[in-house]
Amino acid sequence: MDQAAGLRKMVNMETTVPPLTVYKNSAPNMPLRVISVTSGKGGVGKTSITANLAVAFQKLNKRVLILDADLGLANMDIMLGINPRYTIGNVLSGEKSLEDVIVTTPVGFKLLPAASGMQELTELGEDQKRFLLNELDAINEDFDIILIDTSAGISSNVMYFNFAAMERIVVLTNEPTSLTDAYALIKVLTGKYNQKRFKVLINLVQDASEADRIFRSLSIAVDKYLQSPSLDYVGWIPYDKMIPKAIRRQKPLVDTHPDSPASKSIIALAERILFKEEELNFEGDIKFFWRRLLNC
Ligand SMILES: Nc1ncnc2c1ncn2[C@@H]1O[C@H](COP(=O)(O)OP(=O)(O)OP(=O)(O)O)[C@@H](O)[C@H]1O
Ligand SMILES: [Mg+2]
Repeated sequence: MDQAAGLRKMVNMETTVPPLTVYKNSAPNMPLRVISVTSGKGGVGKTSITANLAVAFQKLNKRVLILDADLGLANMDIMLGINPRYTIGNVLSGEKSLEDVIVTTPVGFKLLPAASGMQELTELGEDQKRFLLNELDAINEDFDIILIDTSAGISSNVMYFNFAAMERIVVLTNEPTSLTDAYALIKVLTGKYNQKRFKVLINLVQDASEADRIFRSLSIAVDKYLQSPSLDYVGWIPYDKMIPKAIRRQKPLVDTHPDSPASKSIIALAERILFKEEELNFEGDIKFFWRRLLNC
């Protein structure tokens, strides 16, 4: 076992916790939503937000799958205190079915661990693509929402996941580099991938006025230099000392402390995304997403 694998095993050791909360499944006729959580700059809170948003959606009776698409530093499993045995790489090599690879997290929602197997997703042969799409048929009806935790930056992998998703949440903070990098991400997704709509979420701020200022700065730059994309301000999450604590305990804050300030914002965000979208744009199904991702 290499050092990294050993370390992963160590931090995951005490974690076989039974589901903390049992939620009712939602009606099967809801259209699937595929939402990426992304950023230009690293460390802005994507993984924390994705895990907590998954819990919040689950509280609203949605069946959620998180796709860990952070290929470089996939650490959703560690944040959730689990140690998955397989990744999608094992599906592509024909060893495992998708159902074998998807794990149930201690909080109930599912996780598709990506790791290094995802690196070649866009370069798969036709046979492998067909095999994967057939495998996906088996889970087609199982989810209402797929959340994709991307890595930071504007690499082609990040762009593909954002392109394939039906909706994109761009996360930024009050750091100037986070603003310029969010702008760069939106610029590439608009120019090269023809994406027109972005949800903007501000994390790690003191209050609404600070978040508004950051959103306005981004919006002014986008309006001035890019014209076509439209930004939908979906909310802000305060700095909350409970978030790092929850990460250390490997349990999502929304599950353990739903009344903490960050949890309340994330629950409000989930409600907004589900119920207050002005223009809902549901297209396709799970295959639609994968076909776009795999370019087939
Ligand atoms: N609202 C918040 N309040 C306090 N701390 C936060 C908040 N959001 C995130 N953090 C902290 O910021 C750090 C980075 O968070 P996280 O790993 O979720 O970011 P990321 O965008 O996924 O990073 P990467 O780009 O490396 O994948 C973590 O230590 C987390 O505890
Ligand atoms: Mg992350």
